[in-house]
Amino acid sequence: MFKHFKSNWPLVLIVGIVILVTFFQFIHSPVQQEKPLSENLNDSLWIPPSLFTDYSISGDERKQVIYGQDIIAHTAIYFGPKGSIAQISNGMNCQNCHLNAGRKNWGNNYSAVFSTYPKFRSRSGEVEGIYKRVSDCFERSLNGSAPDSNSKEYKAIYAYIKWIGQNVKKGEKPKGVGIEKISFLNRAADPEKGKQVYIAQCQSCHGANGEGQLTLAKTSYEYPPLWGEHSYNIGAGLFRISNFAGYVKSNMPFNIATHNDPKLSNEEAWDVAAFVNSQPRPKVDLSKDWPDISKKPFDHPFGPFSDSFTETQHKYGPFKPIVEKIKD
Ligand code: HEC
Ligand code: HEC
Repeated sequence: MFKHFKSNWPLVLIVGIVILVTFFQFIHSPVQQEKPLSENLNDSLWIPPSLFTDYSISGDERKQVIYGQDIIAHTAIYFGPKGSIAQISNGMNCQNCHLNAGRKNWGNNYSAVFSTYPKFRSRSGEVEGIYKRVSDCFERSLNGSAPDSNSKEYKAIYAYIKWIGQNVKKGEKPKGVGIEKISFLNRAADPEKGKQVYIAQCQSCHGANGEGQLTLAKTSYEYPPLWGEHSYNIGAGLFRISNFAGYVKSNMPFNIATHNDPKLSNEEAWDVAAFVNSQPRPKVDLSKDWPDISKKPFDHPFGPFSDSFTETQHKYGPFKPIVEKIKD
């Protein structure tokens, strides 16, 4: 025994030191808080529920939520031009704009949908339920039409949105909801400058003509289109450049930028938004939108307006004078 120890004494010494150091570290370190489970620890303002940890739902209810999540993440597989259920949309996925299936902070998440709908929206001039809001994105962002409100698919989307918002109190909006409002420039956003940003930081994925790139199976996009016939139409939320700039600043280039570590300056975000939204895209009849024109948002780019600013200024800015006028 002693002989054995003697021949191995360096090893025994090292093991001994390691045990001692670990022990002292353990008793001296403050109590470690268990970190919440979240996919975006950096951005973890709202903590979305996760199917991996939430077993409060089971059986058919659970299957329905999983199906809903899958439709949000892979909409094109079900409803794209080669959709297995119906061919009623442009091939984009809801998740392209509602990142992480609507679970990412500052990534246009769904945290406050269940808590705030039904609500009055000035765009339609009506009280809208969740079905109307979901249909809006099918008709505008996906430039198509929505599945029936009685379909298994819509019911699954609804179940998923309800489940996602389960921890948000009625009427509340958690921090990190939707899209960040970034501060205005003192000048109009500039499509020419934005083009340079696009070439340097976006084109590699979204393509020289904003056309995106399909997957090998050609049933959905690896990189979604930003303009052209398969992109969102002029009635979509992203066609307002404040939404586009805010979304892109916190989230693009994809998997590189985050809300806390953006890769674009405010100027670059506004300019690239101006460039992309000056390119051609599908049109849609907007004559029924904003029945009360005084409620049009500052960057709604189509007249008539209740103020005297031009369509161009409403599209590209400068926005400060418009917003000040709205406040009066
Ligand atoms: C091209 C981008 C894009 C796509 C694709 C898209 N959306 Fe949206 N969606 C938006 C924008 C922008 C908003 C409005 C954000 C704002 O005004 O703050 C929005 C808002 C919503 C809202 C309301 C959120 C809230 O808190 O009020 C719901 C619900 C929604 N979308 C569901 C969907 C569904 C379901 C799909 C797929 C069928 C989809 N969206 C696809 C861009 C998109
Ligand atoms: C590394 C590849 C990559 C780069 C670079 C990149 N994106 Fe994206 N972008 C994506 C992917 C992938 C998605 C969809 C994310 C998803 O579905 O989860 C996306 C989604 C988007 C969307 C919403 C969906 C749509 O098609 O309308 C916009 C807007 C967007 N990107 C703009 C930009 C802009 C502007 C830049 C440059 C500043 C940029 N992206 C750079 C990969 C990229």
